[in-house]
Amino acid sequence: MEELSELKLKLKNLNAEYARIREIAPEKRGEFGRELNAKKMAILEQIRLAEEAAMDVEVLPLDITAPCAANEKMPELYSCLMGSRHPLMVEMDRVVEIYQLMGFDVVESRQLDDEYHMFDSLNFAKEHPARDGYDTFRTEEGLIPPAHTSTMQHRVLKMYKDRLARGEDIAVVVPGRVYRNEDVNATHEHTFYQCEGVYVSESCTMGDMLGILREFFEKYYEQKLNIRTQPGYFPFTEPSLEFMIEKPKTLGGKKGDYLEMLGCGMIHPNVLKMAGIDPTKSHGFAWGGGIDRLVMLRYGLNDMRYFESGNLNFLREFK
Ligand code: DAH
Repeated sequence: MEELSELKLKLKNLNAEYARIREIAPEKRGEFGRELNAKKMAILEQIRLAEEAAMDVEVLPLDITAPCAANEKMPELYSCLMGSRHPLMVEMDRVVEIYQLMGFDVVESRQLDDEYHMFDSLNFAKEHPARDGYDTFRTEEGLIPPAHTSTMQHRVLKMYKDRLARGEDIAVVVPGRVYRNEDVNATHEHTFYQCEGVYVSESCTMGDMLGILREFFEKYYEQKLNIRTQPGYFPFTEPSLEFMIEKPKTLGGKKGDYLEMLGCGMIHPNVLKMAGIDPTKSHGFAWGGGIDRLVMLRYGLNDMRYFESGNLNFLREFK
């Protein structure tokens, strides 16, 4: 049986072959793709068998209670079985770090929230159809696994409002896991991640917001980007915008290929008021967008379902 490392190398080389599809005449692409897929399936099966065989033969004692140096010569077997951080968590750290370097504080979101933080404190009128736009789950007690990280806005504003009295600004990002009652497909998941941003000061403007967002995306994708906005609607911002970036050439984009990355806008005066902030003295902006989509674009992934799948072949590609 071939060595595991050789098989993995073969898989890597084969993956590179897929890029050649563009050079193949369109009528031959189907056959080309089918052949590659068949080869890939065969290699994956060999890898699975090799891993199984390795487990059968080479089970060496590993003393998990021993001091760390005792198991230092961990055989390849263990290193291939050893877990790693989930790619989304690694990327989330990058996202948060970019904002931290711009001076933002970080507050973690929560996994169970209530009607008040999900809707009322965000200026959703009672019975307003905008509430239906968020396909929320509910527990039997009526609690809500948050459908967006905006549920944290009210808390963040209250937590930080003393800063305004001292003449300082509020600048906070909120990473978190969110849940929606979605029909799951390649671009929709019931569980995904978002990062929210909240900024309040005496005199901030929409221009400041666009500057921060441009800076964030250019840092994240490590290149200059074209950006664009279009009007949006969110009850908690007025005006509301959808923020788009032109898909970079290096990531397979063509000119004019704009992707919507997040929702944003100037915080609605009612939202500030409910948190005890005087909207005639302070202004703010906020934004929120999905992390999964950000990461998919960075790595050229075409199916969001990989993230929650626990598929080891997928996860190992990020090791
Ligand atoms: N929470 C919105 C969503 O998930 C996105 C959003 C829009 C967040 C505007 C904001 C905002 O903070 O100001 O659809």
